[in-house]
Amino acid sequence: MVKAVVLGAAGGIGQPLALLLKANPLVTELSLYDIVNTPGVAADISHISTPAKVEGYLPADDGLKKTLTGADIVVIPAGVPRKPGMTRDDLFKINAGIVRDLANGIAATAPKAFVLVISNPVNSTVPIVAEVFKKAGVYDPKRLFGVTTLDVVRASTFVAEIVGDLSLSKDVVVPVVGGHSGVTIVPLLSQSSHPLPASVDTTSLDALVNRIQFGGDEVVKAKGGAGSATLSMAYAGAEFASKVLRAVKGEEGIVAPSYVSLEADPVGAAALTKELGTELAYFSSNVELGPGGVVKINPLGKITEAEQTLIKAAIPELQKNITTGVTFITEAKVEEPRL
Ligand SMILES: NC(=O)c1ccc[n+]([C@@H]2O[C@H](COP(=O)([O-])OP(=O)(O)OC[C@H]3O[C@@H](n4cnc5c(N)ncnc54)[C@H](O)[C@@H]3O)[C@@H](O)[C@H]2O)c1
Repeated sequence: MVKAVVLGAAGGIGQPLALLLKANPLVTELSLYDIVNTPGVAADISHISTPAKVEGYLPADDGLKKTLTGADIVVIPAGVPRKPGMTRDDLFKINAGIVRDLANGIAATAPKAFVLVISNPVNSTVPIVAEVFKKAGVYDPKRLFGVTTLDVVRASTFVAEIVGDLSLSKDVVVPVVGGHSGVTIVPLLSQSSHPLPASVDTTSLDALVNRIQFGGDEVVKAKGGAGSATLSMAYAGAEFASKVLRAVKGEEGIVAPSYVSLEADPVGAAALTKELGTELAYFSSNVELGPGGVVKINPLGKITEAEQTLIKAAIPELQKNITTGVTFITEAKVEEPRL
């Protein structure tokens, strides 16, 4: 029996993500929560002829608690998407509080659930969830994931396009490491399962790296103010959730890049830290999954000089993003009770 939860389930990502989770045979219960429209989304999705029983809740009448009771996996796409001209800082100001409040709900009601954070900026929202859990005394770094799968999905698709055979895109594996915004996204194309054609020179390689790093901008621009990536993100989120669930069910050898706390695997983290030459609290690397979540954080392995340069550029930005997330909780002013 697996109960999956989507927080932010009525949104652009939330709805198709809920649809894909409903279609996942491993899910037996699906609980949807949002501040608007969840009863409608739940009623609609509940008519799909797959096993999962669907419920939808709003904040009233302890809706968040009801949603989270008995949850095994919680996926969070709640928040505001980026609009043209909006910076990551602008986004952080809005989404940080939303993610904090939802994390408090999870800590209180489903502290053992696997938590998959989609809400941006992921480099900072994952540390927010971790700090909330630490404060509540329920933190298990092995169970908390920043979903970076969209970068991985984009890398596979763009490489398949360049190889000239889109039918390969499902099989192309490119580790994407670092973080989940702009320059912190580092595709290790030298480790691609399908090598790039010899015709790809340095200029086209740089363009490909840039396209993977800023693929989100391509969508924001194309949607002309109507939102950011939603459908591809829902696909990516459902893919990653499915990997976590398969690993929980005992399937071995599942490895996927994800943005995790390096506390999740101190041995793997030590090797990774040596490669990075800097201590970071969070990093996205290939992560081996098991029944308890993170089993092993894999090292980067052999990378090119150009990739090393990309890693160097990612580190200070990541460091800054992590501190922003951590201090949002640790340095939060304690609210004075109103008399
Ligand atoms: N990780 C990634 O790769 C990735 C990719 C694209 C978008 N995103 C992020 O995902 C988030 C959602 O994007 P979207 O396009 O679906 O946005 P959206 O505006 O379409 O949907 C967001 C939903 O969250 C809901 N919401 C807001 N506050 C809430 C709260 N306190 N509790 C529950 N629900 C709440 C809204 O009502 C809305 O239905 C954004 O932060 C976006 O930046 C992440």
